Amino acid sequence: MSELDTLTKEQQEIIEEARRRRTFAIISHPDAGKTTLTEKLLLYGGAIHEAGSIRQRKANRYAASDWMAIEKDRGISVTSSVLRFEKDNIKFNLLDTPGHKDFSEDTLRTLVAADTALMVIDVAKGVEEQTEKLFEVCKMREIPIITFVNKCDRPGLEPLEVISNIENQLGIEPIPASWPLGYGREFQGIYDLIGKELHLQHKEEHGAKKAHTEKYNLEEGLKEAQLSDHEKEKFREEVMLTEDMMKMMDEEAFKNGKATPVFFGSALNNFGLDVFLEYFAELAHPPQPYLDESGNEREIGRGFSGFVFKMQANMNPDHRDCAAFIRITSGKFERGIEVTESNTGKKVKMSTPHTLMGDERNILEEAYPGDVVSLFNPGSFRIGTTIYSDDPVKFDVIPLFTPEHFRKVSTKDPFKRKQLREGLKQLAEEGVVHVFEMPNGVGNELLLGTVGALQFDVVEHRMETEYNTELHISSVSYHAARWLDQNQEIIEKLESSYSTHVTEDMEGTPIVLFDSGYALNQAEEKVGAENLYKFKQG
Ligand code: G4P
Repeated sequence: MSELDTLTKEQQEIIEEARRRRTFAIISHPDAGKTTLTEKLLLYGGAIHEAGSIRQRKANRYAASDWMAIEKDRGISVTSSVLRFEKDNIKFNLLDTPGHKDFSEDTLRTLVAADTALMVIDVAKGVEEQTEKLFEVCKMREIPIITFVNKCDRPGLEPLEVISNIENQLGIEPIPASWPLGYGREFQGIYDLIGKELHLQHKEEHGAKKAHTEKYNLEEGLKEAQLSDHEKEKFREEVMLTEDMMKMMDEEAFKNGKATPVFFGSALNNFGLDVFLEYFAELAHPPQPYLDESGNEREIGRGFSGFVFKMQANMNPDHRDCAAFIRITSGKFERGIEVTESNTGKKVKMSTPHTLMGDERNILEEAYPGDVVSLFNPGSFRIGTTIYSDDPVKFDVIPLFTPEHFRKVSTKDPFKRKQLREGLKQLAEEGVVHVFEMPNGVGNELLLGTVGALQFDVVEHRMETEYNTELHISSVSYHAARWLDQNQEIIEKLESSYSTHVTEDMEGTPIVLFDSGYALNQAEEKVGAENLYKFKQG
């Protein structure tokens, strides 16, 4: 008897639907090609027939989104959304993470709602700073990471150098899954190391259409390739070497994010994409059970549940609304379902078009684990809020990430201290900003911390428009921070140094601020890096 036979029909349906889903997010540094690759995945996934519109949308974002004045001012999108496409009976949910330089905690939180991360690396640059930060979250969650090395049509590192770069920068084991045939101007296709086929490719209509591909075995393909004998010999040697690397691939290590399959290609020219997408569907995880607050697995076949991983305020400037994005963790979502919010016990009916917000205004009728539904916030939802229908559960899955940017804040009007605290408390609860008491603070000053510097503009704008409070924001010299346990011995040790400052957040959790990277290193030596936390469980 199979595992499915002991389940009800509805549970079987839920598990089968969940198995078809691949919910993933892209981790990359700006300019690595995330937008281009996203569009090409839609092209190869059959969701669009011609590429061009999404990149155009990126350029036209100014007009496309009028959600927030800040978005307009900067011409960037502050929000994440979900792109859905289906291929060969697999439903892909791509959780879009903002790719601009001033990325925020939102980007990091989105990874908590993903089951797999797709890491995009520019072949010329190797692993870059933002990718490293995002990688930390994947590591914490132990989710599988699949790597796509992009822009192989341009001069860059040699493929073996990329492999060592990934290993050295991230401490993860890279396992080649495809290998580029020629690089830079001579890039002609890829060798599929799993299927053992050489794909010779030709660009079609500037990459708007799928690349024309001819498939050969290695030797037949090399006869056709436009490479010198010396280069062909080098390619054979590299393929032999990488085949040996593949044999050592440890499935468990990949599942826990300790090893990553690496694919090469060019998103612009559509080289290496068919092979990539085919294996991506196989390698990416279907939804896994999340742990509830007691550490027990919430089986995906149980009653409907989900958690809020993202909030977006002021999507419609005429109504003071706020959308909540919910990752489904178990059960089936049906339009009209009544859910309970686990913190307050409040019941919400997910029905009317005003409450339920669908992708591109299409209202979802039903959804399964791995899917994301969005809802206009009925008032009490916060980042991390759990909802369930009839089978109670509470998750505690969204961590707080230590801020990396700091500012001192006070009100221009000294009589508005109360509004300052109240407004900031609200924004902190929504996950927009971290608020701390100023170490040795005077007057009405508070300390703000964020993961991305753009958030300060968001705070300033929202305090002014929603709380009618003009802020005075000024710089401070803090460089990094770490959360602490309530451990007096450690706190005293940290307080004894003049380049570290201990304070607390609005919930009373201690946090230490450092003047420099050097001060952080010193503190790690003094009290042990394991006592200085990069994440605080929410
Ligand atoms: P992002 O979302 O990660 O920020 O990157 P995006 O896709 O916007 O790509 C950044 C730049 O890199 C774009 O060039 C894009 O055309 C280019 N690019 C992406 N993939 C490839 C590739 O495989 N090969 C090459 N050669 N270039 C690639 P741009 O000049 O900034 O924009 P555009 O003029 O092409 O619109």
